[in-house]
Amino acid sequence: MPELDTPRLHLRKFAQTDLLAVYAWGSDPEVARYALWDRHEAPVDTQAFLDSCFREYAERGIGPGAVVRMDTGELIGNRSYGRIVPEESRIELAYYFARQHWGHGFATEAVRAAIDYAFGVIGVRRVEARCVVENKASERVMQKSGLEYRGTLRC
Ligand SMILES: CC(C)(COP(=O)(O)OP(=O)(O)OC[C@H]1O[C@@H](n2cnc3c(N)ncnc32)[C@H](O)[C@@H]1OP(=O)(O)O)[C@@H](O)C(=O)NCCC(=O)NCCS
Repeated sequence: MPELDTPRLHLRKFAQTDLLAVYAWGSDPEVARYALWDRHEAPVDTQAFLDSCFREYAERGIGPGAVVRMDTGELIGNRSYGRIVPEESRIELAYYFARQHWGHGFATEAVRAAIDYAFGVIGVRRVEARCVVENKASERVMQKSGLEYRGTLRC
């Protein structure tokens, strides 16, 4: 699991001491609105998320990562290496940020670093991300990070 620095961010593993900071945005309905996970209704839900991170670090060596602002030291989000398909050499990214930190380019900065790491260090040939059509901010993050539109899945 990489520790990375970007100009404004420090990317690291989640730790048990992150519980309340993660709960603050995990319980925000706006952050969870388009997510594949349910809003955290109580800190016990956040604890389950952290436990799943710790399992992934132990079993896969990689997983969700904490995003920390260097200037304030605040934990502001999560950028995850989600699904990894080794036989196809591809990896899927996901990202969630606390609402009060939206609109400053932080997600794009973290996603660009995650993409560089996936190509340069993990050595995958393809990096993917997806969002629901209505999630224009997420779509924009993908565009600004250099991902190319490949199609719309219909359910
Ligand atoms: C998506 C998300 C991570 C973006 O975080 P962020 O730090 O604000 O992202 P950035 O500042 O790097 O870029 C956001 C871009 O989206 C644009 N944007 C925001 N809301 C928008 C909207 N409703 N319509 C169009 N563009 C929008 C911003 O203007 C910015 O683009 P710009 O730099 O060209 O002006 C954040 O909104 C979030 O955590 N949302 C909830 C969780 C989520 O949906 N995650 C993605 C799941 S696929």
